[in-house]
Amino acid sequence: MTAPAADILARIIKSRRSIRRYSDRPVPPETIWRLLETAAWAPSAHNRQPWRFAVLTATADIERLAGSMGERLRADRTADGDDPADIERDVARSYARLTGAPAIIVVCLSLAEMDRYPDERRNRSEWVMAAQSTAMAAQNLLLLAHAEGLGACWICAPLFVPELVQAALALPADWQPQGLITLGFPAEEKTKTREPIGSRVLFL
Ligand SMILES: Cc1cc2nc3c(=O)[nH]c(=O)nc-3n(C[C@H](O)[C@H](O)[C@H](O)COP(=O)(O)O)c2cc1C
Repeated sequence: MTAPAADILARIIKSRRSIRRYSDRPVPPETIWRLLETAAWAPSAHNRQPWRFAVLTATADIERLAGSMGERLRADRTADGDDPADIERDVARSYARLTGAPAIIVVCLSLAEMDRYPDERRNRSEWVMAAQSTAMAAQNLLLLAHAEGLGACWICAPLFVPELVQAALALPADWQPQGLITLGFPAEEKTKTREPIGSRVLFL
């Protein structure tokens, strides 16, 4: 790696922001394919590549997913005893956020090729490794999208309702939804700060 490459990569990493508003311009399928192909060069435990990606670009698919997640959000918050007006605002905001994206990539993991152990402790660690590997591919995707001039945002909601997302999209039984990435050409600019890294590092 040359110093200029490191500088470029650092600039891409630091200038990426979570973008939640998009223009209507569609994202070409070949662009999405290219992002995914490159993202999949992430490291993964045993190089088993446990990530799975469901790509949604059809309005009807995105609306179906947003609708069923919204229903669950309403039911959960109603059971929590929250104010109905707050709930409806939250449901509408969540629906608008998903349906406002020209593309959605549902990020899943599969244990199909991961190791299996006779005990729960090691199976749990294997699952965590699959989730860590999948998150690494997802981060690649966010960075690549940004480098292509696209905006993207990781949304955690599918992690809370994996079986619902699986059913709404008829995903294969072993695909465990971890989150989704909304993707599109940006219609907003964002700034964010970070805590000084010294507050998160022990240099031993
Ligand atoms: C695990 C995870 C879950 C997130 N979930 C959501 C979410 O549900 N909705 C959302 O708008 N942003 C979500 N984000 C984006 C964060 O809010 C965002 O990364 C953070 O505020 C830092 O901003 P930046 O990405 O622009 O630097 C999530 C990010 C991560 C890593």
